[in-house]
Amino acid sequence: MFTLISNIKELLQARESDKYKISGAEMKQLPTIKNAYILIENDVIVDYGEMQHLKPIIVDKTIDASNQIVMPTWCDSHTHIVYAGNREQEFVDRINGLSYEEIANRGGGILNSANKLQETSEQDLYLQSIERVKNVIRLGTGALEIKSGYGLTTDAELKMLRVIKRIRTEFPIPVKATFLGAHALPAKYKHDKTAYLDLIINEMLPKIEEEQLADYIDIFCEKGYFDLEDTEKILNAGQHYGLRPKIHVNQFNAFGGVAKGVAHNALSVDHLEELNIADINILKGSSTMPVALPSCSYFLSIPYTPARQIIDAGLPLALATDYNPGSTPSGNMNFVLSTACIKMKMTPEEAINAATLNGAYAMGIEKDYGSITKGKKANLIITKGIPSYNYLPYAFGDNHIDKVLINGKIYK
Ligand code: NIG
Ligand code: FE
Repeated sequence: MFTLISNIKELLQARESDKYKISGAEMKQLPTIKNAYILIENDVIVDYGEMQHLKPIIVDKTIDASNQIVMPTWCDSHTHIVYAGNREQEFVDRINGLSYEEIANRGGGILNSANKLQETSEQDLYLQSIERVKNVIRLGTGALEIKSGYGLTTDAELKMLRVIKRIRTEFPIPVKATFLGAHALPAKYKHDKTAYLDLIINEMLPKIEEEQLADYIDIFCEKGYFDLEDTEKILNAGQHYGLRPKIHVNQFNAFGGVAKGVAHNALSVDHLEELNIADINILKGSSTMPVALPSCSYFLSIPYTPARQIIDAGLPLALATDYNPGSTPSGNMNFVLSTACIKMKMTPEEAINAATLNGAYAMGIEKDYGSITKGKKANLIITKGIPSYNYLPYAFGDNHIDKVLINGKIYK
């Protein structure tokens, strides 16, 4: 089955196959082709170029994209999209003056979501979660990383991971699973953190390995949650089971979590709202991708990750949503793009690079997704008629997407 997309006003992120992440000044360059075509065979991009070079070919389906922009779908490398219920009361509490920290200390926050999830059946959790997954695909997300971490008991963590596995099996997009048992200390272990870490290491991880439920290991390395020593323990244990780290660090405090991640060859270090020079220097020369989550900063009114400092130091940067019920109840990568440009002073080119190819790298799928490259999967956004790609972040809050193609097929 051949599908041709013809007369594309501008094709974004068209790259040769040797580029797997984009760093520093290169992030300002977004390779594009004006008046272009893409040829898809089944689910794979087999050719692309300028319309004038399109050779006569018989295809099964043609999509005319006159006046429209075509680009790879977003790769959202950091989500907690599997969760039960919502936390809109905490949102109101924060409007009325409580801080995220105060809410967590009162037993709200992550523990609130964990209580809800523990009481929700696996089937109901699946049904609640897939509505969100369908929604984000319609918003142009063509790859998802999903974390556990709202279970916090062996049964509930396994329930979450099984739901993630089912989403991976039943949806046409790539899904990576991250085990985040060390997301918060359950009330039961309030005075015995060691016992909870032992439970993660000696009970949860072996079961996760047995059912092959995770690709990555995560921990919330933060004051009041888990310290550097805990992080060392959990990352070592995860790595023992072949799980590469992708960690939550520097959301509220910078105290060496980035260095810990890099020392453990983390695939990514995520959040980084608080970042110092030592963190930047340690990331240089590493293969770890820094990941910024601007919707979280927006929602919690906390600082934005210093994208300019990161990119101007020659580092790469990826953008993701952090979709979760507490700090980011939105999985909209289009909003992430706008917020990165408006609040973090990323150029549209940098933000698009960060949300596609660098996002793919941050979830280990850069060989098959994240750019318009021969041999990669045909997961594509076809925009509405818009004046330029700058218009995508500029006209924030509007939906600029006409069609989403997943594996070469229009996603309905
Ligand atoms: O990435 N920071 C840790 N975890 C989530 C939020 C957790 C929650 O509030 O439910 C995050 O922001
Ligand atoms: Fe997160």
